Amino acid sequence: MITCEVPGKLFIGGEYAVLEPGALAVLVAVDRYLTVRISPVAGTRRTVTTAPAGPEPVELVRSGTNVVAVADDPAVTGALRHVLAAVELVERYAVERGCALLGFELDIRSELDDRGTGRKYGLGSSGAVTVGLIRALTRLYRFELDDDALLRLALLTALTVDSRCSGGDVAASLFGGWVAYRAPDRPRVLERLARPDTRLVDLVERPWPLLSATRLPPPRELRLEIGWSGEPAVSSGLVARLRAGVAGNPAAYDRFVAGSNACVAALVAGLEAGDDASVAAAVAAAGALLRSVSELAGVIVETPTLAALRHAAEALGAVAKTSGAGGGDCGIALVDPAAAAQLHRRWRAAGIVPLGLHVHQELSMKGDGQ
Ligand code: PMV
Ligand code: MG
Repeated sequence: MITCEVPGKLFIGGEYAVLEPGALAVLVAVDRYLTVRISPVAGTRRTVTTAPAGPEPVELVRSGTNVVAVADDPAVTGALRHVLAAVELVERYAVERGCALLGFELDIRSELDDRGTGRKYGLGSSGAVTVGLIRALTRLYRFELDDDALLRLALLTALTVDSRCSGGDVAASLFGGWVAYRAPDRPRVLERLARPDTRLVDLVERPWPLLSATRLPPPRELRLEIGWSGEPAVSSGLVARLRAGVAGNPAAYDRFVAGSNACVAALVAGLEAGDDASVAAAVAAAGALLRSVSELAGVIVETPTLAALRHAAEALGAVAKTSGAGGGDCGIALVDPAAAAQLHRRWRAAGIVPLGLHVHQELSMKGDGQ
């Protein structure tokens, strides 16, 4: 059996702006995991078991060039969108490389959201499941792909399912640690994928314009703290509303994107130089930019709870901001370790749950037979 444990993610800066081609974001991978297990089986029968699709294994079959689920309930197919897209792309890649298709049993388990209590933290389960599937399937096929090629294959999977995501979550879950991400031109990538003369092998094995993902050193002293607002948020809805809200003012939105890119570039430079003061200043500025674009669009990114999260941190001389699309989920703070316990107390008093997550550093992949 092959087991791939994939970390969840949180945005540190660059949200919304990173949806533009070439725009920047910084993310971290966190030590809460989604696990994908895959076992080879004789023949070409493929099944997947994953809680959102129900307790029983679901069979996957080919229908023309597509891979579909054998299920009467359309909700099952909906719950398996990432699985179907990943299997379809990996099998297309296998066929192009002249490999015979393999049978397997896939099993997906997530601790990114707390199913027992129904808590949704916003740690990026769709990015993590995409990375887990691509890692597991490419290992089953024994494809020798480096992380950059895996990122391209995972991004193609993620974009096939939902073209409106930046892919930053995929990069963070794939690379681990602190990650600098530069977004590709997603419409161009999808256009290339759809062209009948495109070889997937070329798309996966050759660099794309603009796209890059690199590991960054963590801040030298500052500690990352994560607070959960208790308010579940849906990123796609917020993105659509923010876009609609700024549609009448494209120049102001362009200024936001340029400002965000400058902030994230300063954040990356600060991390690389081990300059915590610059890191803190860049995170604070990225948060302020998000608040101003949210005001411009008339969309609440920083809810009153997330504002309380920030104010509690600022009162201790720390910096904090919303993480991701906002509207709930988590906020992040960068704090002197000596003030962390006090920050937790203040957060709890404001109804915010300190999540006690840590940055995931090592890629925890287990080999065959474990
Ligand atoms: O709220 P999250 O963690 O899903 O982050 C969304 C970040 C956006 O930039 C708003 C969208 C994206 O796909 O990058
Ligand atoms: Mg979110």
